[in-house]
Amino acid sequence: MRPPMLSLRPVHLSVLVGVAALALACGGNDDPASHAPGPVDLGPPELDDDLPRPLAEGRAPTPPMGWNSWNSFGIEVTADDIKAAADIIVSSGMKDAGYEYVNIDDGWGAPHENPDAKPPIPAERDEDGRPRTDADFPDVAELADYVHGLGLKLGIYSDRGTETCGHRVGSQDYTEIDAQTYADWGVDYLKYDNCAADENEEVKRMQYGAMREALDATGRDIVYSICAWDFNEWGLGMGQLWRTTSDIIPTFAGDASDPMGLEAEHTILGIAKQNNAFAAYAGPNGWNDADMLEVGRFGDDAESRAHMSLWAIMASPLIAGNDLSIMSEATREILTNTEVIAVDQDALGIQGVLVKTVGDLAVWAKPLNESGVRAVAIVNKGLEPSPSVTVSWTELGLRAGNAEVRDLWQHADLGTTKDAFTATVPSHDVVMLRVAGSEPTHPKGNVHLGDFPWIYAANGLGPVERNRANGASAAGDGMPLSIAGQPFAQGLGVSAPSSVIFRLARNCSRFTATVGMDDAAGQGSVEFHVLGDGEVLWESGIVKKADGAQSVDVSVEGVVRLKLLVTNAGDGPALDRASWGDPIVECGPG
Ligand code: GAL
Repeated sequence: MRPPMLSLRPVHLSVLVGVAALALACGGNDDPASHAPGPVDLGPPELDDDLPRPLAEGRAPTPPMGWNSWNSFGIEVTADDIKAAADIIVSSGMKDAGYEYVNIDDGWGAPHENPDAKPPIPAERDEDGRPRTDADFPDVAELADYVHGLGLKLGIYSDRGTETCGHRVGSQDYTEIDAQTYADWGVDYLKYDNCAADENEEVKRMQYGAMREALDATGRDIVYSICAWDFNEWGLGMGQLWRTTSDIIPTFAGDASDPMGLEAEHTILGIAKQNNAFAAYAGPNGWNDADMLEVGRFGDDAESRAHMSLWAIMASPLIAGNDLSIMSEATREILTNTEVIAVDQDALGIQGVLVKTVGDLAVWAKPLNESGVRAVAIVNKGLEPSPSVTVSWTELGLRAGNAEVRDLWQHADLGTTKDAFTATVPSHDVVMLRVAGSEPTHPKGNVHLGDFPWIYAANGLGPVERNRANGASAAGDGMPLSIAGQPFAQGLGVSAPSSVIFRLARNCSRFTATVGMDDAAGQGSVEFHVLGDGEVLWESGIVKKADGAQSVDVSVEGVVRLKLLVTNAGDGPALDRASWGDPIVECGPG
């Protein structure tokens, strides 16, 4: 397979060219220079002094990293397999690269009791109600000691229902006893599954919450991984990570005959697409879990590279799932690429998002914990090598001008380039870069944010729309923006969950807007939040369409980054089209 090609050719873009125009320029013509009026004097780069931020406190300040038995061993896993995996995590360099948790998945527990079976299946719990283990796991406490002795941590798996998906003992009605048993064994991480359980949403929420409380009551620090197969708003603040999708398979892309096309469910691309919709919710101690890695389980190393890049740019937990005893050197290098891992583990904790697609190429970007720096991944989902694609700095939420580019798979500095770069990506492969340039120029005077460049925009359905409502699918598909019958020529049309971040650079004093469900919305409900550098400045409470419009008028004195966040209010993301009408910042002249 040919390595990805990257050419850095200087292109000249006006800083005033809008994002949509740039997208058009790149989509229709790979050389945006042909649309540009000529070079402009951009002045010195603008950088903020509040980055890098310190690592957050808590159990998972960055996405958990480790290895899990399920993808390669399934229900047949043994304690010896876990010990062997732990040994290789150390000897292969994975531990040094950050892999910490060694997670036993389904298969360690005694078979779920079935008195009707012939011969009957014996009791799955002892006389004190503690779960019995399968014969292949004679002593989990001893296993925990072994793993801890290597400087690693032990994870275990259970289920909120009567039995696990593999028909082993489940935790229903035994939540406290099980949590205490895991703590007594020395377990550090629990993945909690969703099989054989009451499907009532309230029961589900209560059962997941009960296990969180039971784990806390043990007094042991145990990371809680919610495995409910889709995103649930109640999981925020409950788990340190939560699955957003159904199970992953070692298949990079679907095929055109599938209703979801190349982004078919369960595939790497399908999971990335679904997980992207929840980007606004990710952050330190609460990560969207795009499921375990299939790196090393494809025929093709390029697919593993692209998969690893996507998970890193999405700040997903990195839980390897390959059989480490047969790991190739190429797979080892992919899993231990510390430059890619650094993107995943970046302490700022923002989940990267899809910023544009051009044909079969998808461009993803993630702001990093250093002013003026973004990670970029360009993935080719097609079967043909891509034509070259040009990505401008402004599309990454940076300012036009000079930026230094580093290729994170080639481990090579590519030098300084102006305004944009052009890459060619082979089929099912990736180009992953670190771009260090300038933050966008801050607003001066009274500025309508509907027209101002953002540095980050995550949205539940389709892209954030400028000066129109969200149509929940393609760019520009929304109706004119309108709240409670009042039209707004300017604003932002979003679909919860959404997060749009603007750089104010401490130059602004007030933020005003009119917010509400858009008149194009259905019966959904959302909550608007205005944050300045992580601090909540204003919240709307739950808003439905019948509640009409609310006015926001808050001080943003001293704020470096303003975040306009819309969360869905617990009834799912459907029809949650929400609008920021006339979002204006009042700023100083300089
Ligand atoms: C599924 C879960 C998988 C794996 C499996 C074990 O429900 O999503 O990740 O844990 O159960 O039976």
